[in-house]
Amino acid sequence: MKKILVTSALPYINGVPHLGHMVGCLLPSDVYARFMRMMGHEVLYIVGTDEHGTTSEVGALKAGMDVQAYCDMNHERHYKTYKDFNLSFDYFGRTSSEQNKEITYQIFEALDKNGFIEEREVKQVYSIDDKMFLADRYITGTCPYCGYEKARGDQCENCTKVLEPTDLINPKSSISGSTNLEVRTSKHLFLNLPKIEPKLREWLKTKEAFWPDVAYSIALKWLKEGLQPRCITRDLKWGFNVPKKGYEDKVFYVWFDAPIGYIGITKQWSDEKPEDRNWKDWWFEGNDVYYVEFMGKDNVPYHSITFPATLLGTGMDFKKVDYLKGFSYLTYEGGKFSKSENRGVFAGDAISEFKADYWRYFLMSNVPESSDSSFTFDLFSGVVNKDLNGVLGNFVSRVLKMTASKIGNTVPAKGAFETLENEMIKNLQTHVDLYLKYMNELEFRKALAELRAVWVEGNNYITASEPWTVIKEDPKRAGAILNVCINLIRIFAILNFPVMPETAENMLARLNLKIDERSGLKDFNVSDEMVFFKGGESFEVGEALFERISPERVEELKAKYGSAK
Ligand code: 2FM
Ligand code: ZN
Repeated sequence: MKKILVTSALPYINGVPHLGHMVGCLLPSDVYARFMRMMGHEVLYIVGTDEHGTTSEVGALKAGMDVQAYCDMNHERHYKTYKDFNLSFDYFGRTSSEQNKEITYQIFEALDKNGFIEEREVKQVYSIDDKMFLADRYITGTCPYCGYEKARGDQCENCTKVLEPTDLINPKSSISGSTNLEVRTSKHLFLNLPKIEPKLREWLKTKEAFWPDVAYSIALKWLKEGLQPRCITRDLKWGFNVPKKGYEDKVFYVWFDAPIGYIGITKQWSDEKPEDRNWKDWWFEGNDVYYVEFMGKDNVPYHSITFPATLLGTGMDFKKVDYLKGFSYLTYEGGKFSKSENRGVFAGDAISEFKADYWRYFLMSNVPESSDSSFTFDLFSGVVNKDLNGVLGNFVSRVLKMTASKIGNTVPAKGAFETLENEMIKNLQTHVDLYLKYMNELEFRKALAELRAVWVEGNNYITASEPWTVIKEDPKRAGAILNVCINLIRIFAILNFPVMPETAENMLARLNLKIDERSGLKDFNVSDEMVFFKGGESFEVGEALFERISPERVEELKAKYGSAK
């Protein structure tokens, strides 16, 4: 048994999660956490909201709310959404917690003491009417290169040129529209990454053989381009005040305390039950802990360079990531998800249309692992109708209905296995072994293909064994075939659980069983599992597991959620 620490990138509090966020870190982290629990490991799975930064201040301002109240409200909203998707985190915390503040201060003080923090003067745009410094993206104006009038201070969306806010012609605040802006100079603290670089390189080298390409190549690219000192403070009100003389009215930059949030949230979890939980067991001297992080590829530099460097610079023995799983992006009907343009399926809407497992299965089997993948309602309905309804759902209802109508609501007696069964068990074990191997290696697409192949074996078996014909001549053999099929339903449910927990429980409930979440997949041997039901156990037929999505419904959904531009 291993101790496995799992974290998913902490979503921004003001964002509205869409399917891309779900598939780009949250869902895979849950599937992995569930899988590892079922392999008998001790798992700690931590998620929460990333709450600091200008975007929270601006979001609160727009909502006419106090920032704290705004974050409280949105934290609940995020929590509910992820619960609706059945994320099985052990704790859903907040980067704004007291615990995170405490650890952020400890880390900062250690970095400062070790000489990795330096002061620099920075020029920034101050909005006199908004009474705040403006982050680059909150300044808009005319692009000096292409004349586009709505260019942002960090980049022109039209010609894609990277800009400095001072490049813009007629700059204004995008918060109030005010043009009453001036450039002010203020002192800030920087994390001296070049000074930590030798330690970082040494640490990173040990990951080369283990990290997936997506993550390792991004880290290398950053190193190649040369590390620069990074500013870790901001002139904002919302955030952790900087505990250093002369900096009391500044706060830490959101990306400084956000990843420390993984540790802070673990402490939140531990503080709730200090008698039996200890956050230090997971974060210090963690040679017995295997730590896996999930995130979109835009977050990889922070997690492979900045955050490890931050921890290394403290000189304390903090646990650092062992495996970094980075994902590409999910496109929506060929374009981008956009809340403001009302395009795309957002997590709350998704759940109001179909139960979580429809999305969980579709998204995990199309997870953007090596390149971007697409969501379209045509693809989605195809997968639901073919895999979920046609293969899995059809098998379950066919078997249970046939047994109930021909034999009754008890499992028929087990019989001796013939060539057909032995062949099927052999094939099934091959697919199961691959499924477990790929899940273990976080190769989700491949794992899901094996899961589907497992269901297909069931369908092939019932087609080949023809219990509906056999029953006329040999009712005992037909009963034995259906016994095998009912054992298969239980086997499928157990294998499905990490991906589709609700469906798995629903399948088992028909057989009056519950899932063994703690070790159900450990040493999974198909032959042993195939003799679970001996005969005589009662079952219920139940409703269809999945509904078919009609072409008319697909058109309705497309119209409702917008198409790509
Ligand atoms: O990209 C994002 O949504 C960030 N809020 C991720 C932060 S991950 C961690 F550092 F908290
Ligand atoms: Zn431009």
